[in-house]
Amino acid sequence: MNLQNEYQRLNQINIQWFIALVGPAHCAWDEETRIHYGHDETEDLSFPPEIVVKPTSTLEVSQIMSYCFEHSIPVTPLGARTGLSGGALSIHGGVGLSLEKMNNIISIDQNNLQVITQPGVITQVLQEEVAKMGLFYAPDPSSKGSCFIGGNIAENAGGPRAVKYGVTKDFVLNLEVVLPNGEVIWTGANTLKNATGYNLTQLMVGSEGTLGIVTQAVLKLLPLPTHNLLMLAPFSSAIKACEAVSAVFKAGITPSALEFMERDAIDWTMKYEEVNLIVADNVEAHLLIEVDGNNEDVLLQDCEKISEVLEGYECGEIMFADNEAQKDQLWKLRRRVGEAVKSNSIYKEEDTVVPRFELPKLLSAVKEIGQKYGFKSVCYGHAGDGNLHINIIKGDLPDSTWTNDLPKAITELFEFTVSLGGTLSGEHGIGYVQKGYMPIAFPEVHMALLRGVKELFDPKRIMNPGKILP
Ligand code: LAC
Ligand code: ZN
Repeated sequence: MNLQNEYQRLNQINIQWFIALVGPAHCAWDEETRIHYGHDETEDLSFPPEIVVKPTSTLEVSQIMSYCFEHSIPVTPLGARTGLSGGALSIHGGVGLSLEKMNNIISIDQNNLQVITQPGVITQVLQEEVAKMGLFYAPDPSSKGSCFIGGNIAENAGGPRAVKYGVTKDFVLNLEVVLPNGEVIWTGANTLKNATGYNLTQLMVGSEGTLGIVTQAVLKLLPLPTHNLLMLAPFSSAIKACEAVSAVFKAGITPSALEFMERDAIDWTMKYEEVNLIVADNVEAHLLIEVDGNNEDVLLQDCEKISEVLEGYECGEIMFADNEAQKDQLWKLRRRVGEAVKSNSIYKEEDTVVPRFELPKLLSAVKEIGQKYGFKSVCYGHAGDGNLHINIIKGDLPDSTWTNDLPKAITELFEFTVSLGGTLSGEHGIGYVQKGYMPIAFPEVHMALLRGVKELFDPKRIMNPGKILP
């Protein structure tokens, strides 16, 4: 059965209905707008919606969903479209439902250390607002300056600080969700613990907009740490750098970030950002390590201990960031790797994650599989989480090699990742581009449960269709 034929294509009557609901300023269907909203940051993929609608309230989102449910119109929720797995692509056309106008922080509760927010708030804006009150929202994806909280929830976004503080799911307490048929629920309670029935809050987190639309979120906050220290350690062996990662934790230290960058990752980003850092010729990789807390002396001791551990793995001279400007520069180099790679070549990004100690094996396998198929790769990522971003570079390879051999190489890579106790995605999601590989992670009995969940929430398959499930 061709699912696409079941969907109604939009006509003048539908378009007039959306205009009447949200007003002409909040919907558009001209080609330029549709193309603009038809891509996220995933490769160069383009799947424009037939109309872009920008509701301003939960009620409007609910009315849109009831209407689309009744008329079998597919709906793709749109955040800031910074995603890397194609979660925001309107694969089957229909409505691109942008949450950008729902961008208010509703309240910051300093008594309970919670914030209630709409989904269209930029992550960094939320962080800065709560920081004014001495509070801390930790999840910090590299795109934090532009991504939305709603998208972070949809993809269960992580970032460097996840290694100490956890990913988005660890900060979500309760969600207001508009279901595919337009009904509105709160998934949990505004409490730190909750043992009341199945955990729909955590089912929604990471569901990539396929089960409903988050219209409000209650998020946990922490006291803002007052100090941090940042160090950059070069290694002449990338494998040794990866081996050092688990040793840091075994020595009793939990850094607030422990990031890995292969030589090309830092070189390409230095060029892209026009930053000049002196890197010795023999350096194959770096670890960027941050510790945070409230007592600088303790942090200095932590750094000393980390340095001792790293020395055991043949690290070169460690650079300590002396001031905020240097810290910003080092973080910029790390956070912009993805963009730098993208600007360099056609590429394919993988987001594999393994138990931390297995990271050296994963990196070796990436290089071996790459050699077998003739693919160069640039690797970087959240080493402390065992989360390696693998960018496979097309470079001068012929299109036929790219099209035919890449899926085979990725299949081998994922099979090996799973054999290490790992999985396909740590923080970028499955979305559109990874769904074909899902059976590598899960046997049929598990896939059937996932399909059952989808069917229960979205029997007409209008909610972000074409994602997660092959
Ligand atoms: C990063 C994004 C790509 O870690 O997840 O930079
Ligand atoms: Zn990342």
